[in-house]
Amino acid sequence: MADSPDSPDSSPSFLSGIINEIFSSYLNIALIGLIAFLLYKIVRSSNDTSTPSAPPEPELPKIRRDFTIKELKEFDGNQPDGRVLVAVNGSVYDVTKGKRFYGPGGPYAAFGGRDASRGLATFSVVSSDKEGYDDLSDLNSMEMDSVREWELQFKEKYEYVGRLLKPGEEPASYSDEEDDNQQDSNASNKPINADDKPKAE
Ligand code: HEM
Repeated sequence: MADSPDSPDSSPSFLSGIINEIFSSYLNIALIGLIAFLLYKIVRSSNDTSTPSAPPEPELPKIRRDFTIKELKEFDGNQPDGRVLVAVNGSVYDVTKGKRFYGPGGPYAAFGGRDASRGLATFSVVSSDKEGYDDLSDLNSMEMDSVREWELQFKEKYEYVGRLLKPGEEPASYSDEEDDNQQDSNASNKPINADDKPKAE
């Protein structure tokens, strides 16, 4: 009687309305695809216990040097040692312990061996078209704040390696430098200073 299936408020048509709405736009479909893909990659990498007897990978020796964009590209995790480096806001970090994110096949592999600043600021996990050094000068202040926040996260979690060199810049020599001085010497040369608090260790 009252519960006619054609009633506009009945839940099946309400639900199908939402579904229609979602699938009516290519952008929505693309976003759903992206979310599903990233979730799949992350879940798959965190469940990757298929070889429980495999010994943990030995830690690579620490490196301390500056990189040009071209040199950085060598460290995308595809080399025999599997080291992965990522640059954010002019600083290069060794993210090898986060290889499941940034290494080959990871959800953020596009950042491995690259300057991730633009991608992080614009929520894009695909490789930027920009070849060569990216001075980020077209990013707005919110995007730059986001770059600096990401950099703080990288600094907390990963080992700092050196600076990302602008075209024509010379690499610094770190051979005689004490570990404790590393972050300080970097701060003065960086293109954009993040909140550079020395770590109390
Ligand atoms: C679209 C949906 C997305 C989902 C569901 C997602 C999910 C996640 C999750 C669950 C983690 C934490 C993984 C862990 O610590 O075990 C993570 C970390 C991260 N995500 Fe996403 N993410 C998404 C989009 C993005 C985008 C667009 C970017 C790039 C701007 C991004 C960049 C990162 C980075 C850099 C990390 C940190 C990895 C690390 O610890 O080094 N994510 N994401």
